[in-house]
Amino acid sequence: MKKLWIPLLCLLFAYSFSGCGNNPTNQIEESKAEETESQLVTEESSASTPESSKPEQSAENESNILIVYFSRWGNTEYPNDVDATTSASIVADEENYGTTEYMARMIRKNVGGDLHLIQTQEPYPTDFDELRDLNHSEMAENYLPALVESNLDTSRYDTVFIGYPVWATEVPQAVLSFLNEYDLTGKTVVPFCTHDGYGAGGSYETIREASHAAESPDGLAVEAKDVLTAENTVAAWLEEIGIRGKSAGTEMTETAITITIGDIVLDGVIYDTALAQEIKEYFPLTISMSGFGGREYYGGVDFYPAAENLAGGGNTFDNGDITYCEAHHNMAVFYAQTDNPMLSVDVIPIGRVTSDLSVFENLESRVEITFSLAE
Ligand SMILES: Cc1cc2nc3c(=O)[nH]c(=O)nc-3n(C[C@H](O)[C@H](O)[C@H](O)COP(=O)(O)O)c2cc1C
Repeated sequence: MKKLWIPLLCLLFAYSFSGCGNNPTNQIEESKAEETESQLVTEESSASTPESSKPEQSAENESNILIVYFSRWGNTEYPNDVDATTSASIVADEENYGTTEYMARMIRKNVGGDLHLIQTQEPYPTDFDELRDLNHSEMAENYLPALVESNLDTSRYDTVFIGYPVWATEVPQAVLSFLNEYDLTGKTVVPFCTHDGYGAGGSYETIREASHAAESPDGLAVEAKDVLTAENTVAAWLEEIGIRGKSAGTEMTETAITITIGDIVLDGVIYDTALAQEIKEYFPLTISMSGFGGREYYGGVDFYPAAENLAGGGNTFDNGDITYCEAHHNMAVFYAQTDNPMLSVDVIPIGRVTSDLSVFENLESRVEITFSLAE
Protein backbone atom coordinates (compact mmCIF):
# COMPACT_ATOMS: atom_id res chain seq x y z
CA MET A 1 0.00 0.00 0.00
CA LYS A 2 2.85 2.37 0.87
CA LYS A 3 4.30 2.10 -2.60
CA LEU A 4 1.02 3.33 -3.99
CA TRP A 5 1.20 6.60 -2.18
CA ILE A 6 4.61 7.68 -3.43
CA PRO A 7 3.30 8.77 -6.85
CA LEU A 8 0.16 10.18 -5.28
CA LEU A 9 2.11 12.33 -2.86
CA CYS A 10 4.31 13.59 -5.66
CA LEU A 11 1.19 14.59 -7.55
CA LEU A 12 -0.30 16.19 -4.52
CA PHE A 13 2.71 18.40 -3.98
CA ALA A 14 2.70 19.35 -7.64
CA TYR A 15 -0.90 20.35 -7.10
CA SER A 16 -0.65 22.17 -3.80
CA PHE A 17 2.28 24.37 -4.70
CA SER A 18 1.34 25.34 -8.19
CA GLY A 19 -1.51 27.66 -7.30
CA CYS A 20 -0.19 30.78 -9.11
CA GLY A 21 1.44 29.10 -12.05
CA ASN A 22 0.02 28.09 -15.35
CA ASN A 23 0.03 24.47 -14.36
CA PRO A 24 -2.43 22.44 -16.41
CA THR A 25 -3.51 20.43 -13.41
CA ASN A 26 -4.38 23.59 -11.59
CA GLN A 27 -6.42 24.79 -14.50
CA ILE A 28 -8.30 21.54 -14.52
CA GLU A 29 -9.50 21.95 -11.02
CA GLU A 30 -10.21 25.59 -10.87
CA SER A 31 -11.75 26.36 -14.19
CA LYS A 32 -12.29 23.41 -16.51
CA ALA A 33 -14.20 21.37 -13.98
CA GLU A 34 -16.61 24.19 -13.33
CA GLU A 35 -16.84 25.11 -16.97
CA THR A 36 -18.02 21.62 -17.81
CA GLU A 37 -20.35 21.58 -14.93
CA SER A 38 -22.15 24.55 -16.42
CA GLN A 39 -23.35 22.24 -19.19
CA LEU A 40 -24.95 19.92 -16.74
CA VAL A 41 -28.43 20.47 -15.45
CA THR A 42 -29.92 19.70 -12.10
CA GLU A 43 -33.36 20.10 -10.62
CA GLU A 44 -33.47 17.90 -7.60
CA SER A 45 -32.72 18.58 -3.99
CA SER A 46 -30.02 17.14 -1.81
CA ALA A 47 -28.81 13.62 -2.29
CA SER A 48 -29.72 11.57 0.72
CA THR A 49 -27.18 9.63 2.71
CA PRO A 50 -28.77 6.29 3.58
CA GLU A 51 -27.43 4.27 6.46
CA SER A 52 -26.70 1.22 4.45
CA SER A 53 -26.11 0.84 0.78
CA LYS A 54 -26.69 -2.35 -1.15
CA PRO A 55 -26.08 -3.17 -4.78
CA GLU A 56 -28.85 -2.32 -7.21
CA GLN A 57 -29.58 -5.80 -8.50
CA SER A 58 -29.84 -6.55 -12.15
CA ALA A 59 -33.34 -7.48 -13.31
CA GLU A 60 -31.95 -10.79 -14.49
CA ASN A 61 -30.69 -13.64 -12.38
CA GLU A 62 -27.49 -13.30 -10.37
CA SER A 63 -24.72 -11.81 -12.44
CA ASN A 64 -20.98 -12.26 -12.10
CA ILE A 65 -20.46 -8.62 -13.06
CA LEU A 66 -20.39 -5.81 -10.51
CA ILE A 67 -20.28 -2.15 -11.50
CA VAL A 68 -19.06 -0.01 -8.63
CA TYR A 69 -18.91 3.75 -9.01
CA PHE A 70 -18.31 6.95 -7.10
CA SER A 71 -19.91 10.23 -8.19
CA ARG A 72 -20.45 13.65 -6.63
CA TRP A 73 -24.19 13.13 -7.03
CA GLY A 74 -25.07 10.76 -4.21
CA ASN A 75 -22.12 12.02 -2.16
CA THR A 76 -23.00 15.71 -1.92
CA GLU A 77 -25.86 17.47 -0.19
CA TYR A 78 -26.84 19.84 -2.95
CA PRO A 79 -29.26 22.59 -1.98
CA ASN A 80 -32.74 22.59 -3.48
CA ASP A 81 -32.03 25.54 -5.73
CA VAL A 82 -28.73 24.32 -7.12
CA ASP A 83 -28.53 25.07 -10.84
CA ALA A 84 -26.34 24.50 -13.85
CA THR A 85 -23.96 27.34 -13.09
CA THR A 86 -23.07 26.11 -9.62
CA SER A 87 -20.79 23.24 -8.85
CA ALA A 88 -23.34 20.45 -9.23
CA SER A 89 -22.01 17.66 -11.40
CA ILE A 90 -25.08 16.07 -12.83
CA VAL A 91 -26.28 14.65 -16.09
CA ALA A 92 -29.96 15.24 -16.76
CA ASP A 93 -31.62 12.53 -18.79
CA GLU A 94 -35.18 11.85 -17.71
CA GLU A 95 -33.81 11.76 -14.19
CA ASN A 96 -30.68 13.29 -12.72
CA TYR A 97 -27.55 11.20 -12.55
CA GLY A 98 -23.98 11.80 -11.52
CA THR A 99 -21.75 11.99 -14.59
CA THR A 100 -19.90 8.82 -13.65
CA GLU A 101 -23.12 7.16 -12.55
CA TYR A 102 -24.49 7.74 -16.05
CA MET A 103 -21.49 5.89 -17.49
CA ALA A 104 -22.00 3.06 -14.99
CA ARG A 105 -25.59 2.66 -16.14
CA MET A 106 -24.51 2.65 -19.78
CA ILE A 107 -22.06 -0.16 -19.05
CA ARG A 108 -24.82 -2.10 -17.33
CA LYS A 109 -27.04 -1.69 -20.37
CA ASN A 110 -24.38 -3.52 -22.36
CA VAL A 111 -23.18 -6.24 -20.03
CA GLY A 112 -25.78 -6.51 -17.28
CA GLY A 113 -24.55 -6.78 -13.72
CA ASP A 114 -25.24 -5.16 -10.37
CA LEU A 115 -24.65 -1.49 -9.58
CA HIS A 116 -23.10 -0.27 -6.35
CA LEU A 117 -22.61 3.38 -5.40
CA ILE A 118 -19.56 4.08 -3.24
CA GLN A 119 -20.94 6.40 -0.60
CA THR A 120 -19.00 8.15 2.13
CA GLN A 121 -20.52 8.56 5.57
CA GLU A 122 -19.72 12.29 5.46
CA PRO A 123 -21.10 13.98 2.34
CA TYR A 124 -18.61 16.06 0.37
CA PRO A 125 -18.93 19.87 0.21
CA THR A 126 -21.11 21.40 -2.46
CA ASP A 127 -18.69 24.25 -3.04
CA PHE A 128 -16.04 23.36 -5.62
CA ASP A 129 -13.13 25.17 -3.93
CA GLU A 130 -13.91 23.56 -0.59
CA LEU A 131 -14.11 20.16 -2.24
CA ARG A 132 -10.82 20.70 -4.06
CA ASP A 133 -9.09 21.66 -0.81
CA LEU A 134 -10.59 18.76 1.08
CA ASN A 135 -9.50 16.36 -1.64
CA HIS A 136 -5.96 17.77 -1.48
CA SER A 137 -5.77 17.21 2.23
CA GLU A 138 -7.28 13.72 2.02
CA MET A 139 -4.64 12.82 -0.55
CA ALA A 140 -1.82 14.38 1.46
CA GLU A 141 -2.80 12.49 4.58
CA ASN A 142 -3.56 9.25 2.77
CA TYR A 143 -6.95 9.55 4.44
CA LEU A 144 -9.49 6.88 3.61
CA PRO A 145 -12.97 8.28 4.27
CA ALA A 146 -15.37 5.92 6.04
CA LEU A 147 -17.98 4.44 3.74
CA VAL A 148 -21.65 3.88 4.36
CA GLU A 149 -22.14 0.35 5.63
CA SER A 150 -23.03 -2.14 2.94
CA ASN A 151 -23.88 -5.82 2.63
CA LEU A 152 -22.15 -6.05 -0.73
CA ASP A 153 -20.54 -9.48 -1.16
CA THR A 154 -17.78 -9.12 -3.74
CA SER A 155 -16.95 -12.84 -3.69
CA ARG A 156 -19.97 -13.38 -5.97
CA TYR A 157 -18.39 -11.46 -8.82
CA ASP A 158 -15.57 -12.30 -11.24
CA THR A 159 -15.50 -8.97 -13.05
CA VAL A 160 -15.68 -5.66 -11.22
CA PHE A 161 -15.91 -2.33 -13.05
CA ILE A 162 -14.72 0.62 -10.95
CA GLY A 163 -15.93 4.07 -12.03
CA TYR A 164 -14.98 7.47 -10.66
CA PRO A 165 -14.56 11.14 -11.57
CA VAL A 166 -10.87 11.99 -11.98
CA TRP A 167 -9.88 14.21 -9.06
CA ALA A 168 -6.47 15.88 -9.13
CA THR A 169 -5.42 13.48 -11.91
CA GLU A 170 -6.15 10.54 -9.64
CA VAL A 171 -8.95 8.45 -8.12
CA PRO A 172 -10.94 10.10 -5.30
CA GLN A 173 -9.90 8.77 -1.91
CA ALA A 174 -13.35 7.19 -1.44
CA VAL A 175 -12.50 4.75 -4.22
CA LEU A 176 -9.36 3.76 -2.32
CA SER A 177 -11.53 3.30 0.79
CA PHE A 178 -13.62 0.87 -1.24
CA LEU A 179 -10.59 -1.03 -2.51
CA ASN A 180 -9.21 -1.16 1.02
CA GLU A 181 -12.46 -2.51 2.44
CA TYR A 182 -13.51 -5.00 -0.25
CA ASP A 183 -11.32 -7.82 -1.46
CA LEU A 184 -11.00 -7.93 -5.25
CA THR A 185 -7.84 -10.04 -5.30
CA GLY A 186 -7.62 -12.27 -8.36
CA LYS A 187 -10.61 -10.72 -10.14
CA THR A 188 -10.81 -8.84 -13.41
CA VAL A 189 -10.99 -5.20 -12.40
CA VAL A 190 -11.90 -2.69 -15.10
CA PRO A 191 -11.53 1.04 -14.45
CA PHE A 192 -13.62 3.73 -16.14
CA CYS A 193 -13.75 7.43 -15.41
CA THR A 194 -15.13 10.80 -16.37
CA HIS A 195 -13.07 14.00 -16.41
CA ASP A 196 -13.06 17.56 -17.66
CA GLY A 197 -10.55 17.22 -20.43
CA TYR A 198 -7.34 16.03 -18.85
CA GLY A 199 -7.88 12.31 -19.03
CA ALA A 200 -7.40 9.47 -16.59
CA GLY A 201 -4.04 10.65 -15.21
CA GLY A 202 -2.43 7.98 -13.05
CA SER A 203 -5.72 6.47 -11.95
CA TYR A 204 -5.65 3.18 -13.89
CA GLU A 205 -2.32 2.21 -12.38
CA THR A 206 -3.56 3.18 -8.93
CA ILE A 207 -6.63 0.94 -9.31
CA ARG A 208 -4.51 -1.88 -10.70
CA GLU A 209 -2.18 -1.81 -7.69
CA ALA A 210 -4.75 -1.17 -4.99
CA SER A 211 -7.18 -3.85 -6.20
CA HIS A 212 -4.66 -6.71 -6.55
CA ALA A 213 -6.55 -7.62 -9.71
CA ALA A 214 -5.56 -10.71 -11.64
CA GLU A 215 -6.34 -8.79 -14.79
CA SER A 216 -7.00 -5.12 -15.34
CA PRO A 217 -7.69 -4.23 -18.95
CA ASP A 218 -7.32 -0.69 -20.25
CA GLY A 219 -9.95 1.61 -18.84
CA LEU A 220 -12.22 4.09 -20.55
CA ALA A 221 -11.96 7.82 -19.87
CA VAL A 222 -14.83 9.96 -21.18
CA GLU A 223 -14.93 13.74 -20.94
CA ALA A 224 -17.96 14.86 -18.95
CA LYS A 225 -19.37 16.90 -21.83
CA ASP A 226 -19.45 13.76 -24.01
CA VAL A 227 -21.07 11.41 -21.53
CA LEU A 228 -24.63 11.72 -22.82
CA THR A 229 -23.55 10.65 -26.30
CA ALA A 230 -20.95 8.05 -25.32
CA GLU A 231 -23.10 4.97 -26.01
CA ASN A 232 -21.13 3.80 -29.05
CA THR A 233 -17.80 4.58 -27.42
CA VAL A 234 -18.75 2.50 -24.40
CA ALA A 235 -19.99 -0.43 -26.53
CA ALA A 236 -16.85 -0.40 -28.68
CA TRP A 237 -14.63 -0.35 -25.61
CA LEU A 238 -16.46 -3.29 -24.02
CA GLU A 239 -16.05 -5.18 -27.28
CA GLU A 240 -12.36 -4.31 -27.45
CA ILE A 241 -11.62 -5.55 -23.95
CA GLY A 242 -13.70 -8.69 -24.52
CA ILE A 243 -16.41 -8.05 -21.93
CA ARG A 244 -19.48 -7.95 -24.00
CA GLY A 245 -22.94 -9.43 -23.75
CA LYS A 246 -26.44 -8.17 -23.58
CA SER A 247 -27.70 -10.10 -20.61
CA ALA A 248 -26.82 -10.17 -16.96
CA GLY A 249 -25.01 -13.30 -15.97
CA THR A 250 -23.55 -13.78 -19.40
CA GLU A 251 -19.97 -14.84 -18.97
CA MET A 252 -18.04 -13.82 -21.97
CA THR A 253 -15.25 -16.35 -21.85
CA GLU A 254 -15.16 -18.07 -25.20
CA THR A 255 -14.18 -21.26 -27.04
CA ALA A 256 -13.06 -21.19 -30.68
CA ILE A 257 -15.43 -22.75 -33.20
CA THR A 258 -15.60 -23.23 -36.96
CA ILE A 259 -18.64 -22.37 -39.10
CA THR A 260 -18.65 -24.28 -42.40
CA ILE A 261 -20.93 -23.35 -45.33
CA GLY A 262 -20.08 -25.54 -48.33
CA ASP A 263 -16.48 -24.62 -49.22
CA ILE A 264 -16.48 -21.59 -46.95
CA VAL A 265 -14.89 -22.00 -43.52
CA LEU A 266 -15.36 -19.19 -41.01
CA ASP A 267 -13.96 -18.68 -37.52
CA GLY A 268 -16.09 -17.97 -34.52
CA VAL A 269 -16.43 -18.41 -30.79
CA ILE A 270 -18.99 -19.99 -28.53
CA TYR A 271 -19.54 -18.42 -25.12
CA ASP A 272 -19.20 -20.08 -21.78
CA THR A 273 -22.81 -19.49 -20.74
CA ALA A 274 -24.95 -22.41 -19.61
CA LEU A 275 -27.09 -22.23 -22.76
CA ALA A 276 -24.11 -22.07 -25.13
CA GLN A 277 -22.41 -24.94 -23.34
CA GLU A 278 -25.56 -27.02 -23.60
CA ILE A 279 -25.86 -26.34 -27.33
CA LYS A 280 -22.15 -27.03 -27.80
CA GLU A 281 -22.86 -30.64 -26.75
CA TYR A 282 -24.66 -31.09 -30.11
CA PHE A 283 -21.58 -30.02 -32.14
CA PRO A 284 -20.83 -30.75 -34.91
CA LEU A 285 -24.29 -29.36 -35.53
CA THR A 286 -25.59 -28.97 -39.08
CA ILE A 287 -28.64 -26.77 -39.56
CA SER A 288 -30.49 -26.03 -42.76
CA MET A 289 -30.68 -22.23 -42.67
CA SER A 290 -32.61 -19.70 -44.74
CA GLY A 291 -31.65 -16.13 -45.48
CA PHE A 292 -34.05 -13.55 -44.10
CA GLY A 293 -34.33 -9.80 -44.47
CA GLY A 294 -30.77 -9.26 -45.68
CA ARG A 295 -29.59 -9.58 -42.11
CA GLU A 296 -29.64 -13.22 -40.92
CA TYR A 297 -29.64 -16.92 -41.70
CA TYR A 298 -31.94 -18.92 -39.42
CA GLY A 299 -32.98 -22.53 -39.10
CA GLY A 300 -34.88 -24.82 -36.72
CA VAL A 301 -33.12 -27.14 -34.31
CA ASP A 302 -34.36 -30.48 -33.00
CA PHE A 303 -33.24 -30.13 -29.39
CA TYR A 304 -34.89 -28.21 -26.57
CA PRO A 305 -32.47 -26.44 -24.21
CA ALA A 306 -33.20 -26.68 -20.49
CA ALA A 307 -35.60 -23.95 -19.36
CA GLU A 308 -33.24 -22.73 -16.62
CA ASN A 309 -30.61 -21.95 -19.27
CA LEU A 310 -32.86 -19.59 -21.20
CA ALA A 311 -32.44 -16.45 -19.07
CA GLY A 312 -31.38 -13.23 -20.70
CA GLY A 313 -31.55 -12.32 -24.34
CA GLY A 314 -33.17 -9.36 -26.00
CA ASN A 315 -34.71 -8.11 -29.22
CA THR A 316 -31.51 -6.63 -30.58
CA PHE A 317 -28.35 -8.18 -31.99
CA ASP A 318 -24.84 -7.35 -33.03
CA ASN A 319 -23.61 -8.26 -36.49
CA GLY A 320 -21.87 -11.64 -36.16
CA ASP A 321 -24.06 -12.89 -33.32
CA ILE A 322 -24.97 -16.56 -33.27
CA THR A 323 -28.22 -16.81 -31.33
CA TYR A 324 -30.81 -19.21 -30.01
CA CYS A 325 -34.48 -18.16 -30.09
CA GLU A 326 -36.81 -19.90 -27.69
CA ALA A 327 -40.01 -18.55 -29.29
CA HIS A 328 -39.16 -19.88 -32.75
CA HIS A 329 -37.04 -22.78 -31.52
CA ASN A 330 -34.26 -21.96 -33.94
CA MET A 331 -30.73 -20.69 -34.22
CA ALA A 332 -29.60 -17.75 -36.32
CA VAL A 333 -26.46 -16.05 -37.55
CA PHE A 334 -26.87 -12.27 -37.86
CA TYR A 335 -24.57 -10.52 -40.33
CA ALA A 336 -26.05 -7.04 -41.04
CA GLN A 337 -28.39 -4.31 -39.78
CA THR A 338 -27.36 -4.23 -36.15
CA ASP A 339 -28.27 -0.51 -36.23
CA ASN A 340 -31.87 -1.29 -37.06
CA PRO A 341 -32.58 -4.70 -35.58
CA MET A 342 -36.41 -4.77 -35.65
CA LEU A 343 -36.70 -8.19 -33.98
CA SER A 344 -40.17 -9.17 -32.85
CA VAL A 345 -38.89 -11.86 -30.46
CA ASP A 346 -35.98 -12.18 -28.07
CA VAL A 347 -32.82 -13.96 -29.12
CA ILE A 348 -30.06 -15.13 -26.79
CA PRO A 349 -26.47 -14.75 -28.03
CA ILE A 350 -24.51 -17.99 -27.65
CA GLY A 351 -21.47 -17.05 -29.71
CA ARG A 352 -20.40 -15.04 -32.70
CA VAL A 353 -18.72 -15.25 -36.08
CA THR A 354 -15.35 -13.50 -35.94
CA SER A 355 -14.47 -13.79 -39.67
CA ASP A 356 -15.48 -11.27 -42.30
CA LEU A 357 -19.28 -11.32 -42.48
CA SER A 358 -19.56 -10.16 -46.09
CA VAL A 359 -19.67 -13.81 -47.31
CA PHE A 360 -23.24 -14.02 -46.02
CA GLU A 361 -24.32 -11.38 -48.54
CA ASN A 362 -23.67 -13.71 -51.50
CA LEU A 363 -25.01 -17.02 -50.20
CA GLU A 364 -27.88 -18.99 -51.70
CA SER A 365 -31.18 -18.34 -49.96
CA ARG A 366 -31.01 -21.78 -48.31
CA VAL A 367 -27.73 -23.30 -47.10
CA GLU A 368 -26.46 -26.01 -44.77
CA ILE A 369 -24.36 -24.47 -42.01
CA THR A 370 -22.24 -26.65 -39.70
CA PHE A 371 -21.04 -25.42 -36.32
CA SER A 372 -18.12 -27.39 -34.86
CA LEU A 373 -15.37 -26.93 -32.31
CA ALA A 374 -12.17 -25.54 -33.85
CA GLU A 375 -9.36 -28.06 -34.13
C1 LIG B 1 -12.06 18.02 -6.66
C2 LIG B 1 -12.11 17.84 -8.15
C3 LIG B 1 -10.94 17.58 -8.85
C4 LIG B 1 -10.99 17.40 -10.24
N1 LIG B 1 -9.83 17.13 -10.91
C5 LIG B 1 -9.86 16.89 -12.23
C6 LIG B 1 -8.67 16.54 -12.95
O1 LIG B 1 -7.59 16.41 -12.40
N2 LIG B 1 -8.77 16.35 -14.30
C7 LIG B 1 -9.95 16.49 -14.98
O2 LIG B 1 -9.98 16.35 -16.20
N3 LIG B 1 -11.11 16.77 -14.31
C8 LIG B 1 -11.09 16.97 -12.97
N4 LIG B 1 -12.27 17.23 -12.29
C9 LIG B 1 -13.55 17.20 -13.01
C10 LIG B 1 -14.32 15.87 -12.82
O3 LIG B 1 -13.48 14.75 -13.02
C11 LIG B 1 -15.48 15.75 -13.79
O4 LIG B 1 -16.29 16.86 -13.72
C12 LIG B 1 -16.28 14.49 -13.60
O5 LIG B 1 -16.92 14.15 -14.81
C13 LIG B 1 -17.34 14.59 -12.50
O6 LIG B 1 -17.98 13.34 -12.36
P1 LIG B 1 -19.18 13.10 -11.31
O7 LIG B 1 -20.31 13.96 -11.73
O8 LIG B 1 -19.49 11.65 -11.48
O9 LIG B 1 -18.69 13.42 -9.94
C14 LIG B 1 -12.23 17.45 -10.92
C15 LIG B 1 -13.42 17.70 -10.21
C16 LIG B 1 -13.36 17.88 -8.84
C17 LIG B 1 -14.64 18.12 -8.08
